[in-house]
Amino acid sequence: MGMARIAYVNGQYVPHRNAAVHVEDRGYQFGDGVYEVFAVMGGKLIGEQGHLDRLAHSLSELRIKWPLSRAALMVAVKEIVRRNHVRNGLVYLQVTRGVAPRDHPFPVHSKSALVITARKSAPMDKDALRTGVDVITIPDIRWQRCDIKSVALLPNVLGKQQARDANAFEAWQVDDEGYVTEGTSTNAWIVTTDGNLVTRNASTSILNGVTRLSVLEAATEAGIDIMERPFTPEEALAAREAFITSSTSHVKAVTRIDGQSIGNGHVGELTNRVLDAYVEYMETHGGPRTTDTWN
Ligand code: PDD
Repeated sequence: MGMARIAYVNGQYVPHRNAAVHVEDRGYQFGDGVYEVFAVMGGKLIGEQGHLDRLAHSLSELRIKWPLSRAALMVAVKEIVRRNHVRNGLVYLQVTRGVAPRDHPFPVHSKSALVITARKSAPMDKDALRTGVDVITIPDIRWQRCDIKSVALLPNVLGKQQARDANAFEAWQVDDEGYVTEGTSTNAWIVTTDGNLVTRNASTSILNGVTRLSVLEAATEAGIDIMERPFTPEEALAAREAFITSSTSHVKAVTRIDGQSIGNGHVGELTNRVLDAYVEYMETHGGPRTTDTWN
């Protein structure tokens, strides 16, 4: 017998298929809300503190009130994991400015709305992650506060669809200065011709991934040198290796960019080392230890 999925909606645990918010929720009307996606691996919530700290950053930058205390919020997250019997999968958490008659300024009286859902997925498969994916490059048409994990994701949606239309897995967005910012839902990494591991420095131009932070720490611990700086698509095309990171993709090898093979066209040696270091780091620490660097 199939197990009914359960969602959390504003204090209530409801069947997922009936889970709904009001038509005048500002998340629905204005994209006036923020979100987090947590990975669950082997029954453990990954990067809990990192996601909470980043949520705090997003909420405070947009002056959206916490719907619950951090502690109460985490109780609800864990309850959703438990009720949905998720050992491997994802938790989606969204906070909006709440329900109010449609008018652009912040409503004087509104209660932040909180929705939490969970979804099972296959356990992390290192072999699958080691099958390289294709990436395309596209102009970054987003706003100037990409450090805020806003639910307003139209440029990301359009970019990901462009990738799909090109039979690619992800699109790397390129800023007006000609540097890669990040993927539409992942951070971007390369291994240069000199063998340096490079990812863009955290700023308001990218979302500082919790996976990115974990990989930075894991790689450092494994004795791998990292340079946090912007890189161009040209440098990426000439790179030995490339990969992407996120809570959903973990560390995923990239073997083609804009139809051109990267390195020898196979998953790189350093990428494999980083993946191993990341998995070991998650098993030991469960997430990044430095989590106060959100812009
Ligand atoms: N996306 N950059 C962007 C634009 C993202 O949306 C995400 C996450 C990341 C990686 O962050 P993290 O390592 O914390 O998952 C980088 C989530 C998974 C999503 O939108 O589904």
